[in-house]
Amino acid sequence: MSTRAPAVLDDPAAIAAGDPEGMLGLVASLGTQLREGFATARSVPELPSPEGLRSVVVCGMGGSGVAGDVLRSLYAARLHLPIVVVKGYALPEFCGRDTLVMAMSFSGNTEETLVAYAEAVARGCRVVTVAAGGELATLSEADDVTRVSIPGTIPVPRAALGYLSAAPLGVLDAMAMLPAAERDVEAAAVLLDGLATELGPDRTLQDNVAKDLAAWLQGRTPVVWGSEGLAEAPAVRWKTQINENAKVPAWVGILSEVDHNEIEGWSEGSGRPYGLVALRHREEHQRMAARFAATLQAIESAGLEAREVWATPSAGALGSMLSLIMTGDFVATYLAILRGVDPTPVPVLSALKERLRP
Ligand code: F6R
Repeated sequence: MSTRAPAVLDDPAAIAAGDPEGMLGLVASLGTQLREGFATARSVPELPSPEGLRSVVVCGMGGSGVAGDVLRSLYAARLHLPIVVVKGYALPEFCGRDTLVMAMSFSGNTEETLVAYAEAVARGCRVVTVAAGGELATLSEADDVTRVSIPGTIPVPRAALGYLSAAPLGVLDAMAMLPAAERDVEAAAVLLDGLATELGPDRTLQDNVAKDLAAWLQGRTPVVWGSEGLAEAPAVRWKTQINENAKVPAWVGILSEVDHNEIEGWSEGSGRPYGLVALRHREEHQRMAARFAATLQAIESAGLEAREVWATPSAGALGSMLSLIMTGDFVATYLAILRGVDPTPVPVLSALKERLRP
């Protein structure tokens, strides 16, 4: 690994060499993925009946699990049903015939998701799977469970976020469980197509928020705070994308929870090796602006430098949320290029999966 000067981000040859599998192009395709994924999921035949449904559970890990975070951040405060995200083996005890369980795994081979899926089928839950193939696709066929299929041509799960996030939206929309989502999806896709140009490699560092942030984060450990609601899923996604693309540690916190524990840890001088990115959105609670300011003031002696990133205002909440996610995905990819690491493969994670394979 060799650390490079920020100017490298304006050199097309260096970008091509630093991103050989085209992660930047995949990040830029978020809007297209969203449109296509929503249309596919919405037209899947034989979805379970919404009659008497009492809860929605989304099971998935890592890049697939984030789709559950997106759904929950978007709709938890607006649906009359609880949305629970399961990132692990255990299906909650309440899950039964009146629960819709969406088991999501891009590869279809993730151990925890397969265990949760099997339990959901055994308990008679209304199950829908989302997978590009693998064991989950095979089991769906054998168990006569409806599957939303996503393209297996994408090299890694986290680069399929648009398809993965659109799947639960399309399924719930088709089941008439959501306030009609189609207009939000289209508005979000248009917004994301525009943002991809603003943050893409052709826009120079001077004029490119994502390149500028990546240069600022180089050599610091990123800490990402999201304000509750729309910025929660993006904050988690920023952290995990920085981990997986740039291969550095990163931490995440949600405001206002941060004010009830984390701030105590920012003792005098402790913030210097870190860079705080605060994700904000215009729909956040009216107290949040004062809270952010007071929080930063309370920990001033820590020497933690902070930058704010605001969601792009959008006709629908989905666009605002995904604008934060797309910005983070670009930042994490530029940071990888600056650090001289390939953003796409995840060798440590893949080797661990291999070692644990039964
Ligand atoms: C790799 C990645 C991982 C995977 C996770 C679960 O790009 O993003 O976080 O998403 O290991 O694998 P899948 O998504 O195949 O179930």
